[in-house]
Amino acid sequence: MKFFIDTANLNEIREAHDLGVLDGVTTNPSLMAKEGISGQERIIQHYKDICKIVDGDVSAEVISTDFEGMIKEGKILAELDDKIVVKVPMIKDGVKAIRYFSSEGIKTNCTLVFSAGQAILAAKAGATYVSPFIGRLDDVSTDGLQLIEQLVTIYDNYGYGTQILAASVRHTMHLVQCAEIGADVVTCPLSVITALLNHPLTDIGLAKFLADHKKANS
Ligand code: E4P
Repeated sequence: MKFFIDTANLNEIREAHDLGVLDGVTTNPSLMAKEGISGQERIIQHYKDICKIVDGDVSAEVISTDFEGMIKEGKILAELDDKIVVKVPMIKDGVKAIRYFSSEGIKTNCTLVFSAGQAILAAKAGATYVSPFIGRLDDVSTDGLQLIEQLVTIYDNYGYGTQILAASVRHTMHLVQCAEIGADVVTCPLSVITALLNHPLTDIGLAKFLADHKKANS
């Protein structure tokens, strides 16, 4: 399973990259705004900066909601770097745009997906990735992981090439369960990736090893 980091923060992207486990980055307009990145020039430069850090795919979201606007924006984004994946919302013109980008060999990430029906549409349109938002489903008392299970079954049934990118991942158990179910990718904050390191028995065991070594060598 690939690990993407869900942030526009360059330090966090660097930290995940330096850990040696990072396969890509997802951003969205809220994450860009959180970093204070605004205006076309700064936004473009920021995507270029992210691409310089990571080796894998970098999702950059369009703001337009009409077909022509999405195509125009997506082409500009895709030209920035081979790593750029154009992130398109799951709306009617978005599906048309995904089909267009797919026919042009431009990678896409269909975002804001909350149902199996939406994910089938994204796959049929030729999306490279589909992003079901599991945390936001959990927030409204709907089992987000169940959607991932459904998508794995449906995509396997028909051999769809679209990769299931579990998004809105809030904690380590989301990530581990996505791995059990067979999601292709998870995207999550740095805190979720680093929390995977933690186990009290590791800390206790290491302290004991070091203490024993010290005793034997003093
Ligand atoms: C995915 O691509 C989105 O950027 C993200 O995972 C949304 O997560 P949130 O629900 O925590 O905002």
